[in-house]
Amino acid sequence: MTRENLMEKIVSLAKRRGFVFPSSEIYGGFAAVYDYGHYGTLLKNNIRDAWWEHMVQLRDDMVGLDSAIFMHPTTWVASGHVGSFDDPQIDCRKCKARMRADQVLELYGISADKAPLDFINVELNKLRELGKLACQSCGAKDITPAKRFSLMVKSNLGSPTEALSEENVVYLRPETCGGIYLEYKNTLDSTRVKLPFGIAQIGKAFRNEVVARQFIFRTREFEQMEMQYFLHPKDMKEKYDMWKDIRWNWYLEYGLTKDDLKWYKHEKLAHYASEAYDIEYNFKLLGGFKEVEGIHARGDWDLSQHSKFSGVDLSYFDGETKERFIPHIMETSAGLNRIFLMFLDKAYNEEEINGEKRVVLKFDKRLAPVKVAVFPLLANKPQLVEKAKGIFEDLRQNFMCEFDDNGNVGKRYRRQDEIGTPYCVTVDFQSLEDDTITVRDRDTMKQERIAIKELADYFKKQLED
Ligand code: GAP
Repeated sequence: MTRENLMEKIVSLAKRRGFVFPSSEIYGGFAAVYDYGHYGTLLKNNIRDAWWEHMVQLRDDMVGLDSAIFMHPTTWVASGHVGSFDDPQIDCRKCKARMRADQVLELYGISADKAPLDFINVELNKLRELGKLACQSCGAKDITPAKRFSLMVKSNLGSPTEALSEENVVYLRPETCGGIYLEYKNTLDSTRVKLPFGIAQIGKAFRNEVVARQFIFRTREFEQMEMQYFLHPKDMKEKYDMWKDIRWNWYLEYGLTKDDLKWYKHEKLAHYASEAYDIEYNFKLLGGFKEVEGIHARGDWDLSQHSKFSGVDLSYFDGETKERFIPHIMETSAGLNRIFLMFLDKAYNEEEINGEKRVVLKFDKRLAPVKVAVFPLLANKPQLVEKAKGIFEDLRQNFMCEFDDNGNVGKRYRRQDEIGTPYCVTVDFQSLEDDTITVRDRDTMKQERIAIKELADYFKKQLED
């Protein structure tokens, strides 16, 4: 199966089965924005909860935050985003396709990640003179010079649209960590945390991406799961290595293998960073390793800048050593939607069973949108339906469950396989006699007979171990 073919199949399954819909479809769509349907929402929430459990619930050195999307506009001046959060854009004059110049240069073997505009234009000119620079969509050789394209999304909160100018503009946050820096002092004052400690937050971020293709990999509205760890600079190396291990192992815990993942070390760093690694996943549908999470040592840049621009002292006083200093920060920054796509990519399997094709999403059971589906063998036998409904009502008190009496059992299995449900329970005629049912396992397709009274404990063990 080719990469394009797989992408098509996964995009189609995601829509058909209610995982992901293109936004505003009835109005012709809205580029690079997506909605999550019932099963997509369940999967996304399970991934989010798995991150939160490991990052906050199970740790003594972590507290949570849910800061607003709108923030004081000076936040983004202080952070450097207003001045320099942009990508180099080029356009095809013939078909109007918009491209990222650094990504186009990459195709010609020229590394231009975070390179200055002058360098990019010199390299583009060299290709132009050789007659090699061509549009990625139509092949025309009429390409504009590169210009800076700001990724910041502006709004006119509290002022009329016509008055949208640099003085009264507000921004939709381009990353969630901005809120963490602004609430660092309130968090310190209101909880009992001491350095080193972290603040974790999950929420929406917005970027006016130049090129936003590849389904939900790169979108203009997305969610981040970010953690900022505040520490004394002498601890940076130790904690950086610690967090690299913790985050790597989180992926292994949820079903990825070491071969699925790799580290990418950034050689060109942002001016404030001393170290930056990405965790990359080998996406089958994108044809290679791509970033899902960044782990960055940010020094004292963030708190120093916000101290300077706000005039508020954000230093930390260590009661034991009597030392006062601006804490340094290391962050782990993961994209929830990208990790969603990663789990979808990893889970997607096509198998041939007795000459018939089955599509099955083999999610880790804890992440699966629905844990148990309950069926009566026949929909037109009231005794079977009633018994199945009773089991469904009991089980749904503990797990996300589904009742299904549409079509025949084979069809129901296919549907549950396509949404990744690990277990299907069928109530048959024997159930009426001895209070047992069959449990079918998604991955092995084996069926087991189990007493109804033991079902809740059985699933607790299977799903929570
Ligand atoms: N605070 C640091 C930060 O935001 P980043 O590398 O720009 O770092 C972190 O973003 C993660 O957010 C990425 O690894 C990716 O998973 C996700 N991400 C970034 N831009 C995205 C986009 N346009 N669409 C979907 N996910 C995105």
